[in-house]
Amino acid sequence: MKTFLKTVSCCAVVLMLGNSGSLLAQDKAKGEKVYKAYCATCHQANGQGLSTVYPPLAGSDYIKNKPKKEIIKSVANGLKGEITVNGKKFNGVMVALPKNYTDQDAADVLTYVYNSWGNPGGTVTVAEVKAVRGK
Ligand code: HEC
Repeated sequence: MKTFLKTVSCCAVVLMLGNSGSLLAQDKAKGEKVYKAYCATCHQANGQGLSTVYPPLAGSDYIKNKPKKEIIKSVANGLKGEITVNGKKFNGVMVALPKNYTDQDAADVLTYVYNSWGNPGGTVTVAEVKAVRGK
């Protein structure tokens, strides 16, 4: 039984690393921490958002249809005014990502969001965040 468990957990690790080469997996894991500590307060742990106040990130057509640069800008520098996400209108304010979160944190959390809940995938790099942050 012990050997069996060892074999199983060993294979699970190999499978996880095998899944898309691990760098992405690492960024996602770090991004998830930032997400849970910060973004989830409003957008909820499952990305579903909250009533008409906080829009969903899960399966968001807004994320899918906007250029990646716009999404990075919104999260890095803030977003306000009326937007429509998955057919629902929102008109709130998202403040800029607090400065204690590094460009790396921002890249990781955006990569996590792009690769979660049916969103289109892809990566956000530190360089891409640097290019828009604080402007
Ligand atoms: C204090 C609450 C709050 C926090 C924290 C917050 N957001 Fe938002 N977010 C909002 C609101 C409100 C909007 C809609 C703004 C509007 O109506 O123009 C929004 C909009 C968005 C959108 C575009 C709309 C959509 O649903 O696709 C994205 C993407 C997004 N947030 C991602 C994030 C990420 C990633 C984080 C964490 C780094 C985060 N937000 C943290 C409140 C928040």
